[in-house]
Amino acid sequence: MNISERNSSPHQPVLYHESLKYLQPKPKGKYIDGTLGAGGHAEGILTSSAPDGLLLGLELDDQAINIARSKLSAFEDRCFIRKASYVNMENQLEALGWDYVDGVLLDLGLSSMQLDTADRGFSFLREAPLDMRFDPQQGKTAADLLNSLPEKEISDIIWEYSEDPKSRQIARLIIEKRPIFTTTELANLILKVYHGKRGKTHPATRTFQALRIEVNNEFEVLKKGLEVSLNVVRSSGRIAVITFHSLEDRMVKQFFQRESTNCICPSEQPICTCGHQAVLKVITKKAIKPSQEEIITNSRARSAKLRVAEKI
Ligand SMILES: C[S@@+](CC[C@H](N)C(=O)[O-])C[C@H]1O[C@@H](n2cnc3c(N)ncnc32)[C@H](O)[C@@H]1O
Repeated sequence: MNISERNSSPHQPVLYHESLKYLQPKPKGKYIDGTLGAGGHAEGILTSSAPDGLLLGLELDDQAINIARSKLSAFEDRCFIRKASYVNMENQLEALGWDYVDGVLLDLGLSSMQLDTADRGFSFLREAPLDMRFDPQQGKTAADLLNSLPEKEISDIIWEYSEDPKSRQIARLIIEKRPIFTTTELANLILKVYHGKRGKTHPATRTFQALRIEVNNEFEVLKKGLEVSLNVVRSSGRIAVITFHSLEDRMVKQFFQRESTNCICPSEQPICTCGHQAVLKVITKKAIKPSQEEIITNSRARSAKLRVAEKI
């Protein structure tokens, strides 16, 4: 897929060539795309593993599943799409009768389709109910959280997931003004805390990101998802993760580091008592970042980082 073809998709896959280069899909291989989205990366995996490579695509969002199904219809006999969290990939694998896979790809965060679909509530630029769930049939919405959590918890969420220096003032104003139901109500309230100053990025960007992470429990899911990826990848198989948030990237980096180390005892301990054995080899010593060309054609790519490890 060239850049102009990707530009015409509802969502442009980020670090497309780089992730395929490192995932190395092959004929007869089995792969999991744990965050199927519009199926851009999945299409690349299926094309590169032709004629008989298999792909299991997992996704929580019904709209994305419909788009991916139609995009991947030419690969119907080699592509299995399921509505499930990537955290449950082991069950999904078992249901297909697969023992192991040759590669797992996780492309985290939200898609351009989700950001651009007003009624999902992900964007402060579009008036909509404050929802932000990847799966709109499950869990609490962002409005549910803002209208029920104590001030301290709201402030902690904003600070921990976005490091917004005005997290406390924002939380205080939310408590004063709630109930809050819409994206614009929240965005205007944050603008007020920032005295209407917009700067390079809208001041609501960080709080919206933090709320989305909390609503979808994204960090906890990633932590577990990395562990289960390790269980399902065969020896010489690879795990590739694309992140868009520095804390997520740190989690992936530290997980790969720990699992590629034989002993994880504290450095001051003279004798190893942990018995930890390395199970991974880190393939990307430094995170792979998008080219300038990609960032120019797709601004969503600017904070992306790809890390890859191989099972020993
Ligand atoms: C950045 S997009 C993926 C785009 C995709 N790689 C493509 O090329 O079209 C991330 C997708 O992951 C989905 N998602 C987020 N958390 C998930 C989870 N725990 N399990 C499965 N899908 C998830 C989101 O709904 C979103 O569609």
